[in-house]
Amino acid sequence: MSTVFDINSLARENIRKLIPYMSARRLGGNGDIWLNANEYPIAPDFQLTENTLNRYPECQPATVIQRYANYAGLKPEQVLVSRGADESIELLTRVFCEPGRDAVLFCPPTYGMYSVSAETFGIEQKKLPAGTNWQPDITAIENNLDHVKLIYICSPNNPTGNLIDPTTLRQILELSRNRAIVAIDEAYIEFCPQHTSTRWLQDYPHLVILRTLSKAFALAGLRCGFTLASADIIALMLKVIAPYPLATPVADIAAQALTETGIRTMRNRVAEIVSNRSYLQQELNKLTLVENVFPSETNYILVKFTDAEIVFKTLWEQGIILRDQRKQLGLENCLRITVGSQNECEQLVSAINALSSQTQQIKETEHP
Ligand SMILES: Cc1ncc(COP(=O)(O)O)c(C=O)c1O
Repeated sequence: MSTVFDINSLARENIRKLIPYMSARRLGGNGDIWLNANEYPIAPDFQLTENTLNRYPECQPATVIQRYANYAGLKPEQVLVSRGADESIELLTRVFCEPGRDAVLFCPPTYGMYSVSAETFGIEQKKLPAGTNWQPDITAIENNLDHVKLIYICSPNNPTGNLIDPTTLRQILELSRNRAIVAIDEAYIEFCPQHTSTRWLQDYPHLVILRTLSKAFALAGLRCGFTLASADIIALMLKVIAPYPLATPVADIAAQALTETGIRTMRNRVAEIVSNRSYLQQELNKLTLVENVFPSETNYILVKFTDAEIVFKTLWEQGIILRDQRKQLGLENCLRITVGSQNECEQLVSAINALSSQTQQIKETEHP
């Protein structure tokens, strides 16, 4: 009688233990209103123009690189295009971190893929909790730089929505000079473009900036992101990237999104979302179930509720899907809400409002 062989025993130990990143799509839900992945609510209209699918694509499509370089005000050799900013995180880990020896450092609460990527490659993680107003704790960073090769700073930060103070960013860049790479994740920078750190690339050869077309460019389904860095860092990343990271249709649409018209359309979208965000902040602040609406520089808002579980579940059952942040460090009773269309914002407010009235009525019956 043969015993059943457990295939898991062949997997690397860290992969057996790994809790995968729970992306919005993996979490599921049966929604009409998707406010859990910081996407743009309406699909943009693009037509494919490249029909050469019998051929492999360029590894780094020249038009896409040139247009992104123009958009970011950089040289083409300072730009790498990849399968979303997530692939860039993975490439940085593979290029710079030696398993069992090096470490990555980041300041929770922040974007989950920094941790998952390090875990996947068996890299030590130094998680230094953010301090007041979710700013990195400089002293803690200074005291924990041993073996650190990669520091992630998300600005504006996901899920809190705040920018990292430029003085703090400078301090981190100074502390890490000649020691570690500093990756500033600017996935949401189009919502506050004046705060980009690209101008510092010329002063800091160890600075890397992550960008994406998934947010303000409304192309999360395209899977296209960018790394901005010194030509030397880009060259290292090109050593480990897959031979054909971008499908021909992806490059085709990315190139269109980065034309002058594409960029103008993106800016109009940003203006619309910023206006909806003001509306949402104002209305949420009036609701009794809401304890705090945190300021945001992005297309999402972090909200602290008196009872986040009830709000999350009730809205989930009504097909309004939010992102639960209660398990993140320091985010008890917090939910992250993507700013959707005006209509979606109104439906969201009205659903929480109805729940507030219901909860109030129950309280009054219990304690008349
Ligand atoms: C802060 C941050 N960085 C990176 C990403 C990943 O972006 P992409 O869709 O380009 O992989 C996200 C996606 O939500 C994000 O929030």
